[in-house]
Amino acid sequence: MAGGRWKMCVVYTVCMFLIAPVGADLGVTLDVAGRQAMLTQQMSKEFILVSLGIDPEANKRRMHESIKLFNDSLYDMIHGNNARNISSPPTDLVASGLQEVADLWAPFVELLLKNVDQIRDAAPDVRTEILIYVSWGNMPLLVQSNVVVSNLAHIAELAKIETKGFVVDLAGRQQMLIQRMCKEAYLVASGVHVNSAASMLEEDQILFHSSHKGITRGAHWAGVPPVTKLCTTHQMSAVTYNYGLFDPLISEISTVLPISQNIKTAHRLAPEIEARSGPLIDAMAAAVSLYVNDPGTCNPVDAMTASGWKVLILSMADVMADSQMTVSCFLQMSNAVAVQQSTVSLIVGMNTVSAALASMIEGDKAKSIEAAPTQSLLDELRVASSMWASLVEDLQKGISSTEIPLMMATKVSFLSQQFQDKLEVVRSSLVEQATLSLKGTRYAVQDVQASVASLQSMMLAKMTMLVNLIFAATNGDAREIMESARELFNATRDAFLAGHRSMLVGSPGSDGKPTLIRLASVCEVQHMLKVYHMFNSVVRDSEMVLAGTQQSRGALEMLSLTTQTTYELTTSFASALVNNDTQDTLPCQNDTLPADDWLEMVVAVGDFRAFSQEACATQISIVASSGSAFEKLAEILAVKEQVMQKLYDISYGSATLPAPITQAIFEKLVETVEPPVLDFAESLEGGSGDTAVLKSLEVVAALNSLQDLCIAEATRAYPSVPFLRVDAASRQILLVQKTVLQAVMFVYEVTSLRVFEVIMAEFSRLHQDLKQGGSGLPPIPSERPDLLSQWAKVDVASARLKNTLKNMGRKNVDSLLASRDDLVLHLNTIRDLYKVPDPVGAEQFPWMYLAYGIMGCVFCGATCVAACLHRRACRSASDARNQSTQLGLADQP
Ligand SMILES: *[C@@H]1O[C@H](CO)[C@@H](O)[C@H](O)[C@H]1NC(C)=O
Ligand SMILES: *[C@@H]1O[C@H](CO)[C@@H](O)[C@H](O)[C@H]1NC(C)=O
Ligand SMILES: *[C@@H]1O[C@H](CO)[C@@H](O)[C@H](O)[C@H]1NC(C)=O
Ligand SMILES: *[C@@H]1O[C@H](CO)[C@@H](O)[C@H](O)[C@H]1NC(C)=O
Ligand SMILES: *[C@@H]1O[C@H](CO)[C@@H](O)[C@H](O)[C@H]1NC(C)=O
Repeated sequence: MAGGRWKMCVVYTVCMFLIAPVGADLGVTLDVAGRQAMLTQQMSKEFILVSLGIDPEANKRRMHESIKLFNDSLYDMIHGNNARNISSPPTDLVASGLQEVADLWAPFVELLLKNVDQIRDAAPDVRTEILIYVSWGNMPLLVQSNVVVSNLAHIAELAKIETKGFVVDLAGRQQMLIQRMCKEAYLVASGVHVNSAASMLEEDQILFHSSHKGITRGAHWAGVPPVTKLCTTHQMSAVTYNYGLFDPLISEISTVLPISQNIKTAHRLAPEIEARSGPLIDAMAAAVSLYVNDPGTCNPVDAMTASGWKVLILSMADVMADSQMTVSCFLQMSNAVAVQQSTVSLIVGMNTVSAALASMIEGDKAKSIEAAPTQSLLDELRVASSMWASLVEDLQKGISSTEIPLMMATKVSFLSQQFQDKLEVVRSSLVEQATLSLKGTRYAVQDVQASVASLQSMMLAKMTMLVNLIFAATNGDAREIMESARELFNATRDAFLAGHRSMLVGSPGSDGKPTLIRLASVCEVQHMLKVYHMFNSVVRDSEMVLAGTQQSRGALEMLSLTTQTTYELTTSFASALVNNDTQDTLPCQNDTLPADDWLEMVVAVGDFRAFSQEACATQISIVASSGSAFEKLAEILAVKEQVMQKLYDISYGSATLPAPITQAIFEKLVETVEPPVLDFAESLEGGSGDTAVLKSLEVVAALNSLQDLCIAEATRAYPSVPFLRVDAASRQILLVQKTVLQAVMFVYEVTSLRVFEVIMAEFSRLHQDLKQGGSGLPPIPSERPDLLSQWAKVDVASARLKNTLKNMGRKNVDSLLASRDDLVLHLNTIRDLYKVPDPVGAEQFPWMYLAYGIMGCVFCGATCVAACLHRRACRSASDARNQSTQLGLADQP
């Protein structure tokens, strides 16, 4: 031991003495020596290519160049060359090593030079013999060249001379390996030493691959740090890509295949292997020189395309969702929920996330993923990646242990939260830089949108994680954890809902948040409603768990399922947005919805229409009330909020309302209903009663027109459902609200006209038509006693309202509103009854039977008549509505 150290010391001193004058040159010498190894392979390869007749003239020329380079360097190293900064051998060991190289070199180079001109034309057996010599001769030369390199490196290390280090040696060896793989493939093609060449090829492949990984990701055991610099990273990504093109060709040659097949394959592929090795070697050479010195002068941002950014942003969002879901599975496991499924998802998730992070750091051109294009993004990603690595360690511990203690679950949740925060930092700076670099083109905006969709999945998974954490904490009675997790759960739930909403309606870019375009396709809207319903189930199940009752465990199991389903909905939506194929991939139910959905929509449109009038009446009452200005404002804002909510619900559906059913209906809502409603909502706050009333009439007109469309499309889908009659009942409610509004205006002296009496009279006419038929409505047949009795109740209630109207004054506003509400209640009931079609036969007019009789058969005749009748009915119905609208407008002072 002591002797060893003593010897080292002597060597060291000697070295210092010898090297001091030439120390700076030793690095250059090492580089040159390293390249020699590669050249031995390169020249052999070039020789074999000539023999195979593959681009023989060029390869002959290249071989001569390789030989000259090798020979010059060899003699420079033997004698030293100040002009090239190559030092003479620093020790005897090196000198004798070089001499051995020279001894091997002389016969080998002679072999090459003597035969290269005839090899193509030589008889097959002569050619084989020469190739065998070449394949024997190059290897000792390679080995001995490497011995020299190691000796030089050892001296440099002892003398503490700054060299470019192990990584550069490794990278240099990669170049040699590429040449050697080519050489071996061509030997196989030549039918020379096929088996040993093929097995060497396989070994080289493995070696290249693992070294490549080591170089890019670092190998701690070998003291190799990971690549961190931007340009080197991108250059290595180019190497990965080019190796990805090269490797499959090489892989077609295999020791398990018959020799003859390998020869044939290698022969076929040789030109392609050669063509692909070129860019690979160049990329590797560029990478090596960047290892030595990365001046940071590359600018990958400039090379980023819109789709390059898109892929990065989306990958990031996917990583966020996948990792959160993975952690959520872990938490489920800790509660022994859906253990098998959770374990599988956990394992898959860990690998998916690790691979995705690696792709974003290293680039994966085959999957169109560019390495992150700025140094700061790369650095952040690297930090995120190491956070994930330590999270994975904990997750793996969890998989292998029988029980996951609360402390472990808490720790993982906490780490996961930090990890997510980091990812969000990276994501937003990606979005920011993409927007900057693409100058906010629409294309970029849509990508952001898709990434927001993935974030929804992430939040969903996070909620489930938190619920599981709270459940575990409840059992462990860890109050503090419970409370903070509960708060986070609420915040995440609200963020999900806000995200959901802004995806639907769009949002202007602000506070660093990107612009979102509102969804334009009704199928997307329908899908989003499905998501919303499922999300509500998730929240419901969560609350049941959080209630901490005996049912909690069952609810937790249930939550695992609802989360899964919802997660699938949100991720499939995100990927449909990404691929811009929502139309094809999301089922659009416009043609298959039941009649009930159509009815609900017709009713919803009618209710919104009536509500516009009610809102005006409420607003006028509030203004006239005796509250403070502040209270009044608060109340009016609440009314405004209701209007906005109803607009949202009717446009996008809600817990109780369906989404718009057809594209035409949705577009009409967005284009013609929404603007007047927004105007109206604004005017409510404005104060003066009659502006709002005027605006409300525009809302009514827009909704009338929408209702026409709804009824037309509904009737086309379900010809026998009495949509018109249902709408007539809705119009009755509208007329009641309108009447009361006018009465309130009159009482509070917003108007001096007693228009309410005129409108009430119109109500009564419609009331009669609904019973006896008229205005395109059929009479109530005697087979509908339910309708008849409810009609009578409406009759009574409307009489009461009329009565109240007779002596209007401030005193009886309350009773006016009460009798209005009572009447509306009865109208709601009859409207439900009107939805039921009358028994067949009752709705037929007698003369239709007559027509059947006269015409004898005539199905088509009857259809024609029915159609005419229907058209007339529609026209008069909409006439009636128009009249009422005109009346409303004309009534304004
Ligand atoms: C190698 O270089 C030496 C010295 O420069 C020269 O004498 C020799 O001819 C060269 N050999 C070849 C094969 O070029
Ligand atoms: C040799 O080294 C000197 C000083 O380090 C440097 O200026 C010169 O460019 C080098 N020459 C070559 C050929 O590398
Ligand atoms: C979370 O939301 C629920 C339901 O909205 C509410 O009852 C609860 O008080 C909230 N908890 C916290 C901590 O905010
Ligand atoms: C998405 O597809 C539609 C037609 O299906 C097309 O009009 C639109 O331009 C596409 N958007 C993008 C960003 O490719
Ligand atoms: C249903 O949607 C599809 C695709 O959007 C459309 O082609 C079809 O006309 C729609 N049907 C109805 C009844 O609106």
